[in-house]
Amino acid sequence: MSADHEPATITPYPDGPLLVRGAVELHAADGTPIPSHRRTVALCRCGLSALKPFCDGTHKPAGFRTED
Ligand code: FES
Repeated sequence: MSADHEPATITPYPDGPLLVRGAVELHAADGTPIPSHRRTVALCRCGLSALKPFCDGTHKPAGFRTED
């Protein structure tokens, strides 16, 4: 099985974003595709990013904390 056919993985980064690795299609709430040309993307889960759905690093100075 090639890497292109491996399932995508989602890994929560402690006190930070969700790291999505693998081929996925991102869509906005209205179904509009969100272009991404990377094999790994970081999705914001603190709600403070100015680049949603992507993490822009704001979680760090904001002091966002998770339990995992
Ligand atoms: S998780 Fe990084 S800006 Fe929200």
